[in-house]
Amino acid sequence: MTQAHRFSALSLSLAAAGFLASLASPVVAGGHTAPAPVSPVALVDQFEATGGKFEGYRRSGAKGICAMGEFVGSSEGKGISSASAFSGAKIPVIVRFSVGGGNPKAPDNAKSQRNLALQFDLPGGEVWQHGNISAPVFGASTPEQLMGRLQSLQPDPATKAADPAKVKAFADANPEVLLQGRHIASQPVPASYASVNYWGVHGFVFTNAQGQKTAGKWIFEPVGGVQGLTDDQAKEKGANFLFDDIRQRVAAGQVAFNFNLEVAEAGDVLDKATVPLPAGRKKVTLGTLKVTSVAADAGGACLNVNFDPNRVPKGVEGVNDPMLKARTASYAVSMGRRLAEGGKQQ
Ligand code: HEM
Repeated sequence: MTQAHRFSALSLSLAAAGFLASLASPVVAGGHTAPAPVSPVALVDQFEATGGKFEGYRRSGAKGICAMGEFVGSSEGKGISSASAFSGAKIPVIVRFSVGGGNPKAPDNAKSQRNLALQFDLPGGEVWQHGNISAPVFGASTPEQLMGRLQSLQPDPATKAADPAKVKAFADANPEVLLQGRHIASQPVPASYASVNYWGVHGFVFTNAQGQKTAGKWIFEPVGGVQGLTDDQAKEKGANFLFDDIRQRVAAGQVAFNFNLEVAEAGDVLDKATVPLPAGRKKVTLGTLKVTSVAADAGGACLNVNFDPNRVPKGVEGVNDPMLKARTASYAVSMGRRLAEGGKQQ
């Protein structure tokens, strides 16, 4: 890709971002008033109201296990970004694998989301945090849409279940909220935390030492390939097999992921977590993450880390995506609550 092409892809995506920002003005077509901005406290309250409150645990990704790893950047990575993560030296990484949702007893054998959260500890005290998920898209493109979706799913106190009419009405008006669940339902139950793809979902811009910019979305792909369970195998495995499985695979030196960037082209949407890049985009391997040990008590170094994807190193920046921006404060609210409640981990 030429430098000019890189710039045109980026400037087009930023133009799209400006267009979207204009849509977010208070009055929308038809004279309706757009929903008020949602506060991070209200969002975390709504996570609890919809999914249940489990004191001491993360309000999302509650059932998880902490591990340590090392990342080695490739020469292609170094060519795309000046971030020290891509120097080629071994970078220590804190890794947390989890099952989606706020329930610390969520079953491992369900067709549900898996998460790969990372903290690269870079030279000079710089930190790069990620929260990647096992779907190419998230279930909302703005905090307001996430709030509406969660409200529609909130159990009715009388029936203890969501009202199907409310769920349908919101999804009919916001069909993109179904895409994430559809992807997960289309895949088998992952055989291991080590055998599923994890997407960053948001657009990021990488700047190299010459100031050239490359925009795209990333994906961590298991070096050993994707492996799923049949329905019978999933039943047989039971609700708690992922911790033992990851311990065994890490001890055998089998857990590694390629950090791949899918490079955006002109016209690609980068500022919506509900829109994946089109299939067939050029993929560049930025480096490889190897998981080297699992914390003995599963908690390890992860307890005080909230994997905020806006904590990026020099040479990497997030695009202007309202969903990405909303993550920082929500994660801080969740971390404040769980630590004040005693900071539990499995
Ligand atoms: C405004 C939107 C969002 C809210 C309110 C939200 C909420 C949360 C909360 C409360 C946590 C736990 C933080 C902690 O206590 O440390 C969390 C973690 C996480 N979220 Fe989100 N989230 C949002 C958007 C997203 C998106 C778009 C993704 C897709 C990539 C995502 C993926 C993750 C992952 C992977 C974790 C880490 C789990 C772990 O710590 O192991 N979140 N989220």
